[in-house]
Amino acid sequence: MSAELNEVLMYPIKIRAKLDQNECPLKPPKVVLESIKKSLEVINRYQTSMLFNYILELYSDYCNVNKNHLFMTPGIDVIFEKILHYMRGKTILVTKPTYFLFEEQAKQFGVKLEYIVLQEPYFSLELDAIYSRLKKIDMIFLANPNNPTGQYVLDQKEVQELIEEFNGPIIIDEAYYEYGGKTAIQMVENYDNLIVTRTLSKAFCLAGIRASFIALSKNLRNLFFDRIEMFRISTPTLLASKAALENRGYIKHVVAYTERERNKIFEGLKKMGLIPYPSVTNFLLVNTKMEGLQGYLYSKGILVKDLSNMMGSTFIRVSVGLPKENDLFLEETKNYLNLKLSTSEI
Ligand SMILES: Cc1ncc(COP(=O)(O)O)c(C=O)c1O
Repeated sequence: MSAELNEVLMYPIKIRAKLDQNECPLKPPKVVLESIKKSLEVINRYQTSMLFNYILELYSDYCNVNKNHLFMTPGIDVIFEKILHYMRGKTILVTKPTYFLFEEQAKQFGVKLEYIVLQEPYFSLELDAIYSRLKKIDMIFLANPNNPTGQYVLDQKEVQELIEEFNGPIIIDEAYYEYGGKTAIQMVENYDNLIVTRTLSKAFCLAGIRASFIALSKNLRNLFFDRIEMFRISTPTLLASKAALENRGYIKHVVAYTERERNKIFEGLKKMGLIPYPSVTNFLLVNTKMEGLQGYLYSKGILVKDLSNMMGSTFIRVSVGLPKENDLFLEETKNYLNLKLSTSEI
């Protein structure tokens, strides 16, 4: 793995475990890789609207939402950009913590953020806290499940109540939908103010291909997207998405694998006395109860996400990797813990 990451992705250090970006550690099936190769046969040609529309039809069949409510973009950040462009100077309600990229992009666009702090022990969202702020805000963004907490902040019924109560747009980011299986996506056919985002980066194992989807009302779709924007998706991405959606049976194996390994990491950390939080995603939020673990792991070639700025100096986020990456992470975490105990720093 390290050779690929160094030679192809040009990582400057020798990486032994890559657990920092919530990617799928498994490769997509051969049929998807073959389809990407096939795209090279026509790489001198432009993409076609027929191919783009066919993929929207496949996604429509997958998520059970009419194709006229869907669009595809190269990354969810492109969707955020589109929406944030209309929100300059306005106020958006987000949870604390929330998906860091949305927060950063919102700041870039001069959007004000109103925070609701998620409550321990499980980082849950108190609905009353949202309702009491509805008059002060112009839009709501919720990652559901949330990154970095790994848990749902609202169930479907609560999403529906909120859409009915609030007049402004509500974005529900369902990047991790496949792992937990709860969705609000079909509601876009009935509610004009709901926007749902999805991706092929996680359970479909295609982070590098940049294929993301948005579901929303026809009016909003026409406001945000011009038809010519379909030409932003490259032919390799279109063909990868086509094969992935046509052969989507593989995602249930990815989800089962992820659950198994996630439980292993969860139990391993708990046994060491650290605090992993329950998760319905492909990653775990962990209160390590000691400072410096992320830096130590980095020095051993193990990448995890440092959350000290977002959640406090003892928090990290770790993605589910290959079995040997997860074992290595547990082993080196144990070593660090022993090191700390021997110098009685904790
Ligand atoms: C909540 C959330 N939304 C979106 C994304 C990114 O999706 P994409 O790869 O489609 O841009 C991530 C990736 O980590 C995420 O955690």
